[in-house]
Amino acid sequence: MKNKGIIIFGGTGDLAYRKLLPALYNLHCLGLLPEDYKVVGVGRRDYSKEDYIEIIRKWTSEFSRLKYTDKDFFEFSKRIIYYQMDMTKVAQYRNLLADLDYVNGRTESGWTYYYAVPPKIFGFITDGIRLAGCPLKGAKVIIEKPFGDTMDAAEYIYKNLKQCFSQENIFFIDHYLGKEMIINIMTLRFANAIFGGVWNRNFIEKVEINAFEEVGVGTRGGYYDKSGAMVDMVQNHLFQILSIVAMERPTDSSPEAIKAAQTKLFKELKDIEDPHKIDQLLVMGQYKGYLEEDKIDPESTTETYVALKLGIENDRWRGVPFYLRTGKKMGQKKSEVVISFKSTAGGAQSNKLVIEIQPDEGVKLDFNIKKPGTENTIEKVDMDFCQSCVLENRQNTPEAYERLLMASMDEDRSLFSQWNQIEICWKYINRIMEIYHRFSDKLHVYEPGQEGPLNNF
Ligand code: BG6
Repeated sequence: MKNKGIIIFGGTGDLAYRKLLPALYNLHCLGLLPEDYKVVGVGRRDYSKEDYIEIIRKWTSEFSRLKYTDKDFFEFSKRIIYYQMDMTKVAQYRNLLADLDYVNGRTESGWTYYYAVPPKIFGFITDGIRLAGCPLKGAKVIIEKPFGDTMDAAEYIYKNLKQCFSQENIFFIDHYLGKEMIINIMTLRFANAIFGGVWNRNFIEKVEINAFEEVGVGTRGGYYDKSGAMVDMVQNHLFQILSIVAMERPTDSSPEAIKAAQTKLFKELKDIEDPHKIDQLLVMGQYKGYLEEDKIDPESTTETYVALKLGIENDRWRGVPFYLRTGKKMGQKKSEVVISFKSTAGGAQSNKLVIEIQPDEGVKLDFNIKKPGTENTIEKVDMDFCQSCVLENRQNTPEAYERLLMASMDEDRSLFSQWNQIEICWKYINRIMEIYHRFSDKLHVYEPGQEGPLNNF
């Protein structure tokens, strides 16, 4: 079925303005959207179409990856439709969909419904669509994380969605899966004998996966205070990176094989052996000043920093610690995977492979050589491949949302999360959080702009 357009619920929200609409503008400029493809923003605000287009122009000119031009935007704006409604009123969906999806005589749909709203609205949208007699066969739905505030809520959301959309048309988006260097991890591992051969516990000492941000919660306090860093970042983005770093080689390159390899890995996460020692596995922190942020409960104990030490129970990884760390208001924005190899006999320093995800994209490997000169001393040198230093690479690398919107149009599911993974990760995180609240509950307050709480477990 031809892709007809996208209906963005939450069309006046931060995500739509900063990410989705600029991504769609870029796809338009690259000629990747079908000619008559429409972009429908749905929001509560009383905007005319012209008001909405003007707002999008402002955000797009600021956030578009490709150069903004009035000419391109004028063409792009012809695709845009604004629809004002209260998304919690299920009866209002009939009017919206009558014009778009629910046209007499039509049996199939090429529309994609994008839920860019907090999870508490998901149910209203799904019910509204269903009560309006939609979606028709073939319609897709893209769901933003978090998939519910709790495991029960996530289960409910999924059950509800399945009554409305066919399972293969439900796309759980995790925008980290659209990042260039995260996709690149598989090539790095499986297309290089020098890495593939040593990617195991015989050679690797530890693995660190970090995603640090300079920003705080900003305008998203209402949502964030209920989720915290564990649900906002660890349970989805960091676990997805972990699974790609640690999974076995997929049996082939199909999305199904990749997902199966990731899911197997999630099932092999080591359970917490001694709950009394949770402090040796988990450190949680909150930045100083968080309690004064907009829409934050002044007595909130929500974590803005997590450091989690994990193990994997399989032959490849038994005994190798994996450290997952994320935090807001840190010294710098940086996401990376750091693989530390074991030291060799003779006292030389261990090798390190760093996969830089953002803001720089690249791969660094350090190794030991003999220091030039007459003395036989060893020194460490770096091989540094900076992918994003080359302008052409930067220009050719699509933003994560561009890639993911395209992937959903092409029905490439390898770049999306899937329900059984979400379920396993929720369960694992729930267990850790229960143990933490019962046996520790320590929340370290840390200074903004620094390295977060001490976590050298
Ligand atoms: C989102 C989280 O999924 O990812 C945000 O909800 C976080 O809290 C963001 O800021 C980070 O994304 P990126 O692409 O800037 O690393």
